[in-house]
Amino acid sequence: MTSVGIDAIEIWTGKLRLDLPNTFAPVKGDDPEKYTKGLGLHNSSMPDVYEDIVTMGANAAKRLMERKGLSPQDIGRIDVATESAFDNSKPVSTYIAGCLEQVFEGDFHHANKGERKFACVAGTQSIDDAYNWIKAGRNRGRAALVIATDTALYARGDPGEATQGAGAVAMLISEDPSVVELSTEQGYGSADETDFLKPNQQFPSVDGKRSMKVYLARMREALEDYESVAGRTHPDDITYIPFHTPFPGMVRKAALLGYRHMTRDTEIEEELAAELGRQPREEDFDSWDAYEEAIRGYMDGLKDTDRYRDWYARTIEPTLTLSGQLGNWYTGSVHLARTSALKTAAETGKGLTGEKLLVGSYGSGAQAEIHAETVQEGWKEEIEALTIDEQMARRYDLSFDEYEQVHDVHNHDKEIDVEEFTQPVGEFVFAGWGRMNERKYEYVD
Ligand code: COA
Repeated sequence: MTSVGIDAIEIWTGKLRLDLPNTFAPVKGDDPEKYTKGLGLHNSSMPDVYEDIVTMGANAAKRLMERKGLSPQDIGRIDVATESAFDNSKPVSTYIAGCLEQVFEGDFHHANKGERKFACVAGTQSIDDAYNWIKAGRNRGRAALVIATDTALYARGDPGEATQGAGAVAMLISEDPSVVELSTEQGYGSADETDFLKPNQQFPSVDGKRSMKVYLARMREALEDYESVAGRTHPDDITYIPFHTPFPGMVRKAALLGYRHMTRDTEIEEELAAELGRQPREEDFDSWDAYEEAIRGYMDGLKDTDRYRDWYARTIEPTLTLSGQLGNWYTGSVHLARTSALKTAAETGKGLTGEKLLVGSYGSGAQAEIHAETVQEGWKEEIEALTIDEQMARRYDLSFDEYEQVHDVHNHDKEIDVEEFTQPVGEFVFAGWGRMNERKYEYVD
């Protein structure tokens, strides 16, 4: 059986940053710890005036192709996942291919291009499409380029404004991958929900509190579905669990729920019973409310046990380091979480080859997907080639007034002229509008 998975990853962050505790919180009259401790966020990445989903995606893809020594003929598909598209017909992948053709020899005329939409889960769905295409033997030895790119901006004053972000993750999906092999087994939790949507509008309508409940409900359903095909999951078998991370505080809730589920009827539940009692079982309660209250009590106790804290520090915390500095990248978020875990392992000298990840993706509207990944031999070299630390350090630190200008520049309903905050070097930039109202791009040396 051919092994298929992620062969390479590149990340491009928006070149500006909004410091949440020091710049955003004071203007909003909030305690900075709401951001750093409550949500788990320190900075949001923001796009400079010449950046958008195309430039960030193309810049990440260019770097990936150069590093892997690829030319356009090596790529048989380009799928872009985004929830920030500006064109309802022409897919973002065509704009990105056009950019790449400005700098690479050859063209992508024989590559299948598309755009995937299902809120934040679309990046994972694009990986799925690439996986299936390769497994079906239709790839003619070529690889797929999957690009998750978003400018995750909320209307000013919306509670979601605290969780914004902008950036792109480009991934090469191929046979015999260097980073991770994907499992065939998958689980889904999917339902028609109205938690977060953009009905023909740029900024989302969000019911934030409800979206958190829906995330947890769908994730739980996906885990049960995954276990129905892959067998029971056990915390000791999984090295990292990268979740979709709109903000680290969300993952704190998902991880606790996941741990309770995974440890039920295991020796861990028995060992914890001395401290907490056994997990409440629905059949032992007269009403759903009484059962829920007992569950809440159990979870409150569980999260303070040494056993859980150790597990969380080992398995979940390493997935959150990038998110806390970059914000929500929507379709890219879960892929940042995976990268963050692998990066932490590389930095701490941890061996990972053959280890297992359980990846929990989520998109509002709503759908969760869970699959497993096995880390491959080349993971460390790939992760060490990333430049995300340098990119983060170089970001321009916005004042609150400058942040508002940047937000307005990227607001499709406003027309304002703002000077760029950083100088583009060796990258694609937005270069104005064409005769059919298309966005145009050029490469700047
Ligand atoms: N110190 C420590 N923690 C603090 C704090 C402080 N001074 N002030 C607040 N907090 C905690 C809160 O207790 C809360 O944590 P909890 O949920 O564990 O109780 C967290 O910080 C957020 O505070 P809250 O008052 O709930 O924030 P909010 O009402 O402004 O909204 C969201 C939070 C997530 C609903 C909002 O940011 C949003 O709508 N985001 C977009 C939607 C989203 O990302 N949904 C997730 C699923 S995809």
